[in-house]
Amino acid sequence: MQNMPKWLNDAIFYQVYPQSFCDSNGDGVGDFNGLISKLDYIKQTGFNALWINPCFVSPFKDAGYDVQDYFKIAPRYGTNEDAYRLFDEAHKRGIHVLLDLVPGHTSDKCRWFKQSAKPERNRYSDRYIWTNSGWARPEGYNWVTGNADRDGTYMLNFFLNQPALNYGFNNITDQSWQISYKDKRVKPTLNAMMRVMRFWLDHGADGFRVDMADSLVKNDPEKTATASLWRKVRKMLNAHYPEAVLVSEWCNAPVAINKAGFHCDFLLHHNDKLTDYAFYRHDETGVSTAYFCKIAHVSAYNMLRRYSEELQSTKNNGYICVISGNHDVIRLSSFLDESERKLAFVFLLTLPGAPFIYYGDEIGMRYIPQRSKEGGFHRTGSRTPMQWNREEPNCGFSTAPASKLYLDVDRDPDSPCVEQQMKDGASLWSLVHSLTVLRHAHADLQADGEFSVVECSDGGVLCYRRGEHTFVLFNPTDTEQVSTVCIGKKLFELGGVAEKNGVTTLAPQTAVIFEK
Ligand code: NOJ
Repeated sequence: MQNMPKWLNDAIFYQVYPQSFCDSNGDGVGDFNGLISKLDYIKQTGFNALWINPCFVSPFKDAGYDVQDYFKIAPRYGTNEDAYRLFDEAHKRGIHVLLDLVPGHTSDKCRWFKQSAKPERNRYSDRYIWTNSGWARPEGYNWVTGNADRDGTYMLNFFLNQPALNYGFNNITDQSWQISYKDKRVKPTLNAMMRVMRFWLDHGADGFRVDMADSLVKNDPEKTATASLWRKVRKMLNAHYPEAVLVSEWCNAPVAINKAGFHCDFLLHHNDKLTDYAFYRHDETGVSTAYFCKIAHVSAYNMLRRYSEELQSTKNNGYICVISGNHDVIRLSSFLDESERKLAFVFLLTLPGAPFIYYGDEIGMRYIPQRSKEGGFHRTGSRTPMQWNREEPNCGFSTAPASKLYLDVDRDPDSPCVEQQMKDGASLWSLVHSLTVLRHAHADLQADGEFSVVECSDGGVLCYRRGEHTFVLFNPTDTEQVSTVCIGKKLFELGGVAEKNGVTTLAPQTAVIFEK
């Protein structure tokens, strides 16, 4: 791949929601020193790259996706020096660190916005999207009126407190206030965002996961203008930070990678995408039709159709990142039971591209429905504290009284925890660990290795080839199935596989990785 940092080929990412990972100072909220203390765990599990959710000064109306100061770590997580030490300590262990860049909007508490809201013209007047009348509410986007002295309404990018930064418009429908994305008045917005990137890269960060990367230029249905801005960013990185990585939250790899120049694009849980077919799908009555649901008995054909096309189209340009979940979706454990999740992890960790595992999914943490916190709404239940052990208070997450915790830990006596699973060779953690070891040791299984489907039966048997010699074979169903594929030297086996008279029989819920 051209201009691709080499480290990405063998990267297995771990997503850390910092407020819920490890609290070192007993205030009930996770922090950087806590995260540093867990780097050995992360390394031992086999994760060699991190994505940390936004950790900058913020009023936290959207868990930090409402940035107030892009250059300063939120005090609840520590100081900038703690972040620099995190980069150092991670690098010592061979772990790369991505921060979360929110380029589409800021908090309405951001200094840029406060300046922009002033009626007197100043250098921030065009930093956000304003109409030219305090009464205007043009169609197609959401507007705030009556909240500033400036005679205009401002556009929102997400929640009420997240005004849209101004990267201009592609199709201009009203000349009186819409500015072209090519106009010099909006150039400072992208420059400001590039300054943010350079600041953190200069201090040791290895790149960014980019929030709502497709949302920059407005009235840009084909995303051509938005893509042209990202290409400028990529050019800057290629020239000055060739080892840095940008991962887009776009979920359209051909556009994000081929047109906008991202190194990687997330494959989210959207309808008709691979993770939807693999983990989440239901019929109208709520019965799972997901490929890894053992009673679903569905072919892998639909799951792989678009994915294979997108893989083909982005080959040589960048990677598609399949995720186990994230802070926006209900945890995987609500959709698949443990035996099903084990097969799902074999899948996740043997696909090309760079896999992303959401903290706690490696032990099967549960979704805990509860009252919304920091704009989480239904997402809050997937953001509860990491469960390290059963002996310490709050499962080892924090020494704070339970009432002070960011969110309560899962207090069910059967809830999973790290220490217990690390001791149990049959646990989900142990399976994830053995798969990360295998992936790191086999170039065929890494990001660059070719992917082609060898068998895809109506009954659910799936076999794909990775690289030159490595194959992955599944029977996700609760019944025995036969395959036309002959097994070679086994590298990994879950369930059971037998060959007799040229027939390969797969026990229920089997996954085999082998070399030929
Ligand atoms: C996507 C993020 O993942 C989500 O958590 C956030 O609320 C929105 N973007 C807005 O930034």
